[in-house]
Amino acid sequence: MASPEYPLLSKNFFADPYPLLRRLRDECPVYYHAPLGAWFLARHDHCTAAVRDRRLVNARARQLLSTLMPALHGTDELAAMIGQWSRLLWFLDPPRHTRSRGLVMRGFSAAAIERVRDEVRASVEDALASVPGGGGELDVVWQFADPIALEVLCAIFGLPGELRADFRRWTTDIMQVAGAGATDEDPALRATDSSVKLFGLLAALVEERRARPGDDMISRFLGDDRDDPAVLEEVTIQCFQMVGAGYVTSRNQIACAVLALLEHPDELARLRATPGLLGPAIEELLRFAPSVLTTNRLAAEDLEIGGQQIRQGELVFPILASANRDPAAYPDPDRLDLARGGRPMTFSIGPHYCPGGPLARLELEEALQGLLRFPSWQLVGGFDYRGASLQDRGPSQLRVRLGV
Ligand code: HEM
Repeated sequence: MASPEYPLLSKNFFADPYPLLRRLRDECPVYYHAPLGAWFLARHDHCTAAVRDRRLVNARARQLLSTLMPALHGTDELAAMIGQWSRLLWFLDPPRHTRSRGLVMRGFSAAAIERVRDEVRASVEDALASVPGGGGELDVVWQFADPIALEVLCAIFGLPGELRADFRRWTTDIMQVAGAGATDEDPALRATDSSVKLFGLLAALVEERRARPGDDMISRFLGDDRDDPAVLEEVTIQCFQMVGAGYVTSRNQIACAVLALLEHPDELARLRATPGLLGPAIEELLRFAPSVLTTNRLAAEDLEIGGQQIRQGELVFPILASANRDPAAYPDPDRLDLARGGRPMTFSIGPHYCPGGPLARLELEEALQGLLRFPSWQLVGGFDYRGASLQDRGPSQLRVRLGV
């Protein structure tokens, strides 16, 4: 029997994915999306099993990029991008993944993350400096979340100020195709070009840290192996991964969390009134309004999930946002309950779980604490989800009047 059509890439879906995800969980939890030629998993148990299943591998840069950028089929640009992306952590399997991840985790110890707190706090203060003491209007996406997310990456890498505009433009170009893909040639070519340029910038930065180590994350990745050319190259590659994985995701996550609170004024009031609620509230906001909707894998052999036959070579997308709303895992899942407790699937689990989770949580904590200083928040005008993708969903702007 042919599967019903579930428009997972439509404008309506990005505006509010949850009604469709509920239908998918109930009606067709393992769904073949013909236009993408990929399987989507909607249930919590299928998603958690898939991200740990060794038959579903991460070595899928070729299949994923070819699927996402059909306009560049057979071109040198696409081949170059595949070559580069194949070496990112997110596209590796053991034993290479284990080695590269070990190197990356040098930079993500709890102490190392805590050391950037002051810089995160300073970027929150800078962003809020544009709001007068008596209150005023702020676009939470572009005047608040974006500069914070950018500053945090620049700070952990020690990126000089004059390179930040290029850094932002190239990253945005790449992220635009990384999630939903690009059927037109222009954005696809822009992404491949930006990918090469960003890589060049990071290679120069790594070389600079080799020569002059500092207290930044790149220096920690290099550790005592800074004179090994293979390690220098590996660190450059994984910094590129970090930029792709950590900038737009964090920006959108701050905006999604603020929007969820604006849409639930009772929970916002509860957060203001309850000391100690911020920690659990962050976990709940990550569950309820995640910025990353899916991850993906490639079937290395034929396998069965939920009664469906997946063939070797097919892509599989566990929908983490749907796992987060599965009533089998989270009772009354469509209710935002800041005191709920428990962990969301937003950063995934298993060998590829997001190493940036603690940093993203710290950003959210500082960002919300900064905004909560203003006793009233009021949404001004509308918002939409232009530019959203399966990888990165967030409002394209969010004007809020902060009052005293
Ligand atoms: C709220 C913001 C973020 C969200 C929602 C998020 C989510 C995710 C997800 C879903 C994955 C895929 C896991 C899998 O396939 O099993 C991932 C991987 C990854 N993330 Fe994040 N992430 C965020 C922020 C960050 C930050 C700030 C960094 C670093 C600066 C980062 C670095 C990475 C890396 C390196 C990987 C690849 C890990 C691997 O394959 O072993 N992320 N992230």
